[in-house]
Amino acid sequence: METTQHEVVVFGATSFVGRLTCAYLADRYGDDLDWAMAGRSRSRLESVRDEIGAGDDVPLIVADAADPAALEALCERARVVVSTVGPYALYGETLVRICAETGTDYCDLTGEVQWIRRMIERYEAAAAESGARIVHCCGFDSLPSDLGVHYLQRTAQQRFGAPCTRVKMRVKAMRGTFSGGTVASLVNVAREMRADPDLRRALADPYALCPATYRPATRQPDVKGPTFDTDAGAWVAPFVMAAINTRVVQRSNALSKQAYGADFRYDEAQMMGRGARGRLRAYALTAALGGFMAGVALAPTRRLLERFVLPGPGEGPSAQAQENGFYDIRFFGETEAGEKLAIKVVGDRDPGYGSTSKMLGEAAVCLARDIDTATAGGFWTPATIFGDTLVERLENKAGLHFEALT
Ligand SMILES: NC(=O)c1ccc[n+]([C@@H]2O[C@H](COP(=O)([O-])OP(=O)(O)OC[C@H]3O[C@@H](n4cnc5c(N)ncnc54)[C@H](OP(=O)(O)O)[C@@H]3O)[C@@H](O)[C@H]2O)c1
Repeated sequence: METTQHEVVVFGATSFVGRLTCAYLADRYGDDLDWAMAGRSRSRLESVRDEIGAGDDVPLIVADAADPAALEALCERARVVVSTVGPYALYGETLVRICAETGTDYCDLTGEVQWIRRMIERYEAAAAESGARIVHCCGFDSLPSDLGVHYLQRTAQQRFGAPCTRVKMRVKAMRGTFSGGTVASLVNVAREMRADPDLRRALADPYALCPATYRPATRQPDVKGPTFDTDAGAWVAPFVMAAINTRVVQRSNALSKQAYGADFRYDEAQMMGRGARGRLRAYALTAALGGFMAGVALAPTRRLLERFVLPGPGEGPSAQAQENGFYDIRFFGETEAGEKLAIKVVGDRDPGYGSTSKMLGEAAVCLARDIDTATAGGFWTPATIFGDTLVERLENKAGLHFEALT
């Protein structure tokens, strides 16, 4: 049996986003990183390795997400496991359990709040005991939001000596589409929520991912429909990823002993422009989003969408579409005393895949190389475990840029 411990093992290397992550690691790090590719089929792993030109010296590890013995063997060979096997609520639990029990560091791309909640409840104690650092949400949801707020708060502390207790995240512009895996995850969340009203209620809680004892009285704002936002100077509409990103940012505040303030308020929305045209677009997007969510929530329309409209497993945007994609996100902060600050975070590829795969690759390398081994085990957020170290990596290597505008 192989005993080498690789710095990073990518589990789900054959997935749409896993392939891109492997291509990024091969391209960016070459021989400078000791990494391996893992998945359930050796032949599919071999094809991906050939396709991305990674070379025979990148080892392949075969493991099925439902085979605990194979996952234990995988963890023995990994300093950090990165998983892109999703929907995570269907395939992800055994690996998280084994990482938590064996002290293996782990990061992934999940945006499934209901599953993250379950993982924290079930395995936080084991991870604290073993020293495993578990970091969910290392893709477009929720790195730019979580690190964007972290960056804004660091700048606010430097300028004003105080945090911004009110922060608005506004997506100014974005170009990109969904892959089959993301659609499958969205559909699964809708299915679980429909089947379980308690879960629906729990997920409506802005503090859904915070420790059970953390219950601030602060009511959180939420952009549910078209609104004119004076800070952004534009009409805004609901942002599809807000339901996950806001929960992660609130967990960061809870884990950092309320570094953003005991009365921290945060919401996310999408900017739609000014004047009558902006207003019309805000109404149109709100209606389209409502229609889509209702469509995935109801079984008959969900089946039709899956069959005829949405991408299937393994499908996603073309290389050209990834290359042409980008995002530009703004953060507007205000301190208790009324001082204001605006931050911009931009990425140079489509958010969901081109940029996500680079962010995930850097999060994994950051976990393997930069995080002090004395850092406690448990379920961290990207901002609380990585902070400035990952901001720097993303700026230097992964095409992101963080900037204070005012
Ligand atoms: N947070 C973000 O910003 C973001 C962005 C992109 C994607 N995602 C998430 O990332 C995940 C992957 O997305 P994707 O589009 O890349 O998915 P995908 O192409 O559909 O791939 C699914 C992967 O899961 C593997 N798999 C399924 N069952 C397995 C099992 N029993 N054992 C081992 N592997 C198994 C598949 O292996 P085979 O190839 O062998 O079938 C494949 O590698 C999804 O959950 C998606 O929501 C998140």
